[in-house]
Amino acid sequence: VQLRVRRDENAVCELAASEPVPAPAAGEALLRIDRFGLTANNVTYARLGEEFDYWRLFPATAGWGLVPAWGYATVMASRADGVTEGDQIFGLVPMGQRFQVTPVAGRVGFADAAAHRIALSPVYNQYLPAGDADDLALVLRPLFGTSVLLDLLLSDAQDPGPVTLTSASSKTAYGLAHLLHKRGVATFGLTSPQRVQWVRELGLYDAVHSYNDLDALAPATVLVDFAGDRGLVDRVHAHLGRSLRRSILVGFTHQATTRHAPPPPGPRPEFFFAPTEMTRRGHALGPAYAAAWTEFAPIATQTIQLTPVQNGERLPAIWRDLVAGRADPATAFVVSL
Ligand SMILES: NC(=O)c1ccc[n+]([C@@H]2O[C@H](COP(=O)([O-])OP(=O)(O)OC[C@H]3O[C@@H](n4cnc5c(N)ncnc54)[C@H](OP(=O)(O)O)[C@@H]3O)[C@@H](O)[C@H]2O)c1
Repeated sequence: VQLRVRRDENAVCELAASEPVPAPAAGEALLRIDRFGLTANNVTYARLGEEFDYWRLFPATAGWGLVPAWGYATVMASRADGVTEGDQIFGLVPMGQRFQVTPVAGRVGFADAAAHRIALSPVYNQYLPAGDADDLALVLRPLFGTSVLLDLLLSDAQDPGPVTLTSASSKTAYGLAHLLHKRGVATFGLTSPQRVQWVRELGLYDAVHSYNDLDALAPATVLVDFAGDRGLVDRVHAHLGRSLRRSILVGFTHQATTRHAPPPPGPRPEFFFAPTEMTRRGHALGPAYAAAWTEFAPIATQTIQLTPVQNGERLPAIWRDLVAGRADPATAFVVSL
């Protein structure tokens, strides 16, 4: 089975029989998906499926999309050089049970060189050894990796704080808050009214307020937006006024998004795309991430409840909750179909 999602209305989804996967031809390999992580980040992949080519990763029946997810998979059969049956890898997988790749061996792991993926960022086409295949690492590698990249970006530019972060309850946002705090940069979190208390209890922000309470927001020099609600970005810009020097758009989970509206008052928002930043940072990123992870992993163990999902029948409801923003931010799903 696989979970497929309507491209034009992401809340509409169904568990469908997987398309039959033929035995690998020369140069191909067949992978079994062991498990994949599922958080709001996957909602952004669906929302930006068309504009950022996320639908291209895993071809599906017209009108439907297979949302990519970061997962572990095991090579079931291979007719590709350097890829051996039994190898376990980490990379983007469809929300299903199996998929086929055309591997080209890299320095470590391999890249999928299939024609339909050529236009995508190399980061999205890369499959790395799974290592100890830890579930917390599975969920957080793409999210906390983004937190680390954002922290590097802000520290390179010597952007002085304080920093305001929206969707403060999200793992990517509070990972960044933790890193900023370590550098002595003050952080203000903005979140939905029902999550204010939970985010305050994380203890990772200097102050936390609701989206309805912007008056309480102290002046900040940088906005990092994880919500993608253009109305909210405009209000925050207007509220922070001239203190705001930089505005960075990272996430797009909020539905009522008009991304093509005229620019808000103040600094022109910059779009942040983690794969581009990863490529730009190159090999320096590995050690920076490893050091940051050593400190953050014990925090994440306290804040994140890994929720295994082994019954595919539950997956459509879980996906709909994520798309509607109803999912508990304390939860990260680890799905195995
Ligand atoms: N640009 C990049 O390269 C990049 C890389 C990684 C992550 N991101 C983005 O960072 C954001 C956070 O991802 P995550 O996986 O860390 O999130 P998460 O931990 O699953 O965050 C959950 C929180 O996000 C907000 N949210 C989630 N779905 C929503 C929806 N449908 N409608 C309204 N609010 C919703 C809510 O926060 P509030 O109530 O606090 O708003 C919710 O509590 C995502 O937008 C993700 O795509 C971007």
